[in-house]
Amino acid sequence: LRATRIAPSILSADFARLGAQVDEVVAAGARVIHVDVMDGHFVPPITMGPIVVGALAEQVHAAGAVLDVHLMIERPERQVAEFAKAGADSITVHAEATPHLNYALSAIKDGGCAAAAAINPGTPVGALAEVAELLDMALCMSVNPGWGGQPFIPASLDKIARLRGLLPQGTAIEVDGGVDAATAGPCARHGASVLVAGSAIFGASDPAAAYAELVAAADA
Ligand code: DX5
Ligand code: ZN
Repeated sequence: LRATRIAPSILSADFARLGAQVDEVVAAGARVIHVDVMDGHFVPPITMGPIVVGALAEQVHAAGAVLDVHLMIERPERQVAEFAKAGADSITVHAEATPHLNYALSAIKDGGCAAAAAINPGTPVGALAEVAELLDMALCMSVNPGWGGQPFIPASLDKIARLRGLLPQGTAIEVDGGVDAATAGPCARHGASVLVAGSAIFGASDPAAAYAELVAAADA
């Protein structure tokens, strides 16, 4: 069994000292940094864009880590090239955000990035069936996207297992929302390979210690 990776989400970081916060979790061992992009349309909040990805890319890559960019934006196919150019390593688009999911995933690969598709809690796993062969990773949202700090939706566990059954073995499954020391283990046991954690890491007084605690919980 390959170890589950914990991906700190900078959405809950202190943006006035973003570089230092990323350094803290990278020093603790994090190798996947999750970047939540929101456009005020697909989800109500507006967060960050390619400029922030570009600002972090050098420091993250120098440490041997990757930038995992989660696009919660409408018509993501129009933006993926900019994020690829800015230094994204993987880009996730939502199945609900475009009528051109196949095209969007192809555009991500054309940009030289790993391609992923996300599904909201209300979207069935079958939404990814026709693009399964194009996916390097599938993202199962375990909260409704838009905000950090929400409670994990328990039905997500069964959904992770059904995604695992649907997708080819090499396809990673990422889980995002409400991941903490209590939910990380069950997610990993149901087939998740990457667990995103925002508030559980950057909401803690010691993000490095919180990261280590999640790694232990996921592999327990
Ligand atoms: C929510 C974002 C998540 C968010 C998770 O829409 O996609 O990545 O940062 O935050 P927590 O871990 O606090 O649920
Ligand atoms: Zn996310």
